[in-house]
Amino acid sequence: MTVPPSQGKVILFGEHAVVFGRPAVGLGLPGAMVVERLRPLADHVKLCLPAWNFDGCCCHPGLLGKVLHRLFELLPGRRLGMELSVHSRIPPGAGLGSSAALAVLLVRALARVRGLELDLAEQRRLAHVLEEIFHGRPSGLDDTLACFGGVCLFRRREWSKPLPALPVPARRLSAQALGLECRLPEMVVGYTGREHQTRHMVELVRRRRQRQPQETEVLFAEMERCLWWGLDSLCAGRWAELGLALNSNQQLLELLGVSSPEIASLVQLARRHGALGAKLTGAGGGGAVVALAPGNQREVARAWSRAGHRTWYLDGADDWRMAV
Ligand code: MEV
Repeated sequence: MTVPPSQGKVILFGEHAVVFGRPAVGLGLPGAMVVERLRPLADHVKLCLPAWNFDGCCCHPGLLGKVLHRLFELLPGRRLGMELSVHSRIPPGAGLGSSAALAVLLVRALARVRGLELDLAEQRRLAHVLEEIFHGRPSGLDDTLACFGGVCLFRRREWSKPLPALPVPARRLSAQALGLECRLPEMVVGYTGREHQTRHMVELVRRRRQRQPQETEVLFAEMERCLWWGLDSLCAGRWAELGLALNSNQQLLELLGVSSPEIASLVQLARRHGALGAKLTGAGGGGAVVALAPGNQREVARAWSRAGHRTWYLDGADDWRMAV
């Protein structure tokens, strides 16, 4: 039984602000999670996921048990379950979208077992319900990227018709997501090694916004400005300018309080080794950093690897691999 793999993600602009209605831009990491074995089971779901140290079923007392249980009830059709084993190329809690990738893959696998034909928008909608168990009230950006992949402009509310004027051809993936046709420069992603909890980081920002609504909205508005500036530069291939936009966004995330000493250290290392820009990607507080390094990809990757960080090369929206 073959199941299409799901994607990881790297957010370039708009994390956190997207939860409060601002747009975000991210890209998928194809083949991040793959089903290795799948067979139908009569009445429950059993998952083996070594990357998460998990081997259990829907009666497991933890979060994953809850997710598997919800999945079984959520999908329409015959009440069939499944046993599956999943290989993950991304670590959990690294800001690279592992929970969304798992949610999409679980939906696809059970749909296959139950003989359901679900289009991508429906897969995404169901995966989002599972993401809510992981993260509370996520924006939907991660599950959108895990499902559709490519370079994507997303916002929580529907995009108007006609679509906003964009610097590149865009196609509607869903009411909230537009797929962008643009060439990506060489980038590098590095893992701080410190796991984070998206739910916790989002809650931190929510409380900050409650305490300081005006200041926080100003930061979000600035983040949105960085996004449009960055998108223009990306589409025109103006890498130096794109680097400045990424650096500005990192500064704003620091002011928002979601950076960390580990993130700051990776950002500094990247800039010192020739990156044009670098910022945290995802919820922050640990997790991963993305660096724009056309022509200096190897230097940045080597510097991060030497400092003990897991590192990936990103060569466009279809090609990413572990740096050795
Ligand atoms: C997490 O990958 C991205 C956040 O913006 C949360 C969300 O969009 O739900 C921090």
